[in-house]
Amino acid sequence: MSQALCKARIIGTGAFLPEKILNNADLEKLVDTNDEWISSRTGIKERRIASAEEFTSTMGAAAAAKALEAAKVNASDVDLVIVATMTPDYPSSSTAAIIQHHIGATHAAAFDIQAACTGFLYSLSIAKAFIESGIYHNILVVCSEKMSTVVDYTDRNTCVLFGDGAAAVVISHEGKGLTIDSICLGANGGLVDLLLIPAGGSRLPASAETVSEGKHYIKMQGRELFKQAVRLMTASAKECLDKASLKETEIEWLVPHQANERIINAIAKEFDIPNEKVFKTLHKFGNTSASSIPIALDELIKNHAVESKHHILMLGFGAGLTSGAILLTQM
Ligand SMILES: CC(C)(COP(=O)(O)OP(=O)(O)OC[C@H]1O[C@@H](n2cnc3c(N)ncnc32)[C@H](O)[C@@H]1OP(=O)(O)O)[C@@H](O)C(=O)NCCC(=O)NCCS
Repeated sequence: MSQALCKARIIGTGAFLPEKILNNADLEKLVDTNDEWISSRTGIKERRIASAEEFTSTMGAAAAAKALEAAKVNASDVDLVIVATMTPDYPSSSTAAIIQHHIGATHAAAFDIQAACTGFLYSLSIAKAFIESGIYHNILVVCSEKMSTVVDYTDRNTCVLFGDGAAAVVISHEGKGLTIDSICLGANGGLVDLLLIPAGGSRLPASAETVSEGKHYIKMQGRELFKQAVRLMTASAKECLDKASLKETEIEWLVPHQANERIINAIAKEFDIPNEKVFKTLHKFGNTSASSIPIALDELIKNHAVESKHHILMLGFGAGLTSGAILLTQM
């Protein structure tokens, strides 16, 4: 196939979830909450928590190994490793470089991107551009988050929502898979205060004071974020479908960011997409930030027959505020 005409496609996926489960009953022992409130307001029943020996890089490397195996691609044939995370192993160096070394992708370049929960969609768009321009042939996109390190387990507004986990995809210029079709991405830095880790960066470096004030934890304005999430993901989905000249009825699966079941239901209602076509994993994994969409995609592909010409619409939303939609089509 001519490189100039090739379409970037996902040819393998993999996921890694830590074994330890934190369920709603466990959270009742930590904060003033209960299973009924969490289930009815979020749809989340349990989430996974990484052990002290599991890091963003080790979880990401485990997911990457599975994706490479599924794609039948050797690590030494990977040209680029992109890691989407908001919980890197270190502020510097990149987690991508650590994973590149860990999996033996000795010929690959490596860098991290920070687009919070929309990180998978942003990474896919970068991978598509590199592949379709002919610069690279095989790219590994890894999403990995150890959210438990930035969540305050005394804050009931946030601690019920998040979990740890990783997922990876191999994107190539050849082979059977899901083509990356229309892309729609956005950001609104005017709303960064809605979801923020205030300290630990150059504006407010970590100090004994920032730690004692809990400013190294996620701060969130949940109610406003909820409204923005529905508005932005609905708009992204419409734009993405318009670009592809597709109607919502032509979508086989909707794979939204797994933040809150009520957000997902509100979007599905807006599009008149039946519940059985909306893929959800949040009841068992919570919101795993950048990993949430690819974990769901991996599970969807492994458990359902995605047939030739089926369209999957993925929707993302997160801190930044970043948002976006990407349409995949099974070859
Ligand atoms: C956080 C979220 C679940 C809260 O649900 P909500 O229906 O908006 O609830 P509200 O914030 O209006 O709070 C309602 C009440 O429940 C209380 N509450 C909040 N968290 C609670 C908890 N875990 N358990 C019990 N009560 C809780 C609030 O304190 C409030 O009490 P008050 O009325 O006495 O002040 C919801 O707003 C949400 O999911 N927002 C989006 C968050 C998100 O997606 N973040 C990540 C983006 S990538």
